[in-house]
Amino acid sequence: MDLDQAQRAILNVLTQVSADVLPRVIQWMRHSSEIEDLLRSNADVLLNCIADDIRSSLPLEAMVGSENQVIDIIQSLQRPTLHVDAFLYDDDTVDALCEEGKMSRIYCMSCGSRKTAPLDFISHSFSLVELKFLFQQLLPDLSGKTLVDVGSRLGAVLYAGCVYSSASKLQGVEINAEFCQLQEKIIKKYDFTDRIQVYHSDICCQPSLLHYADVVVLHNVFEYFLDKEKQIKAWTFVMENVRKTGSLIVAVPSLEESLDKLQMNIQLDKWVEKVKLNPDIYTGSETDEETIRQIHLYRVL
Ligand SMILES: C[S@@+](CC[C@H](N)C(=O)[O-])C[C@H]1O[C@@H](n2cnc3c(N)ncnc32)[C@H](O)[C@@H]1O
Repeated sequence: MDLDQAQRAILNVLTQVSADVLPRVIQWMRHSSEIEDLLRSNADVLLNCIADDIRSSLPLEAMVGSENQVIDIIQSLQRPTLHVDAFLYDDDTVDALCEEGKMSRIYCMSCGSRKTAPLDFISHSFSLVELKFLFQQLLPDLSGKTLVDVGSRLGAVLYAGCVYSSASKLQGVEINAEFCQLQEKIIKKYDFTDRIQVYHSDICCQPSLLHYADVVVLHNVFEYFLDKEKQIKAWTFVMENVRKTGSLIVAVPSLEESLDKLQMNIQLDKWVEKVKLNPDIYTGSETDEETIRQIHLYRVL
């Protein structure tokens, strides 16, 4: 049933409802939890469709040719590490790919032997369950607010923000041109143009986006993508420009961890405070507590 047919069918039902009951039916349609649930699960279906589309335009490791430096960095990590994009491949899909022999969770420690060890996995995107946690549990109501995703990559945060939140603007800044084109394709196809904008740019050239943001997302943003000197420059820029009092920063890993690794001598407590989270928000989440505890929330002072 398309939109036109659905509207006509609903109006047809409503014209048959007796006049004294009609206001209560309308009230129910506006506020019913059943309709809310229907919308929520539709949002999941939509995000899964988007993930399907993106999977079919990228290789299995969900990286593009222009990311040579990232591939080198991953290969130089101490422990053998595989890049699996969590927005595109959930655990069940990874299991299925392992069974088909297209992916492996283990590596051979001495070639030819049966001595194997588990591979480390890294993802350059949030998974669907993490995104739901982010928008439905961690962040407050975003009506009328602007969210900026620094390094928006596949656009997962932006699409999820569109379907799980009421944010009026979702802005992505991505340095890689191929990922910007991919995001533009999805935004057009799914008609997100009124709420999502993507900027092909280094974040260090976009101070005003950071000045006006109510929420800034920093998910593993610089570590695997820039050399140490550029990471320090980018963090310094972010700190100088995310200054709106009361605005929120979502960070993975924690700001402390990212800045310590770079030995940046920063007084974080002059810039942000960590938001104390109610432990209840972790219960009932669809993902394991350990994963979502790695998502940190700060308020700018
Ligand atoms: C780990 S991904 C984050 C993906 C996305 N935010 C999410 O959570 O699903 C980091 C992205 O940041 C981009 N990036 C790195 N340095 C950047 C910079 N200085 N300006 C803009 N984007 C940058 C990378 O190209 C990469 O796509």
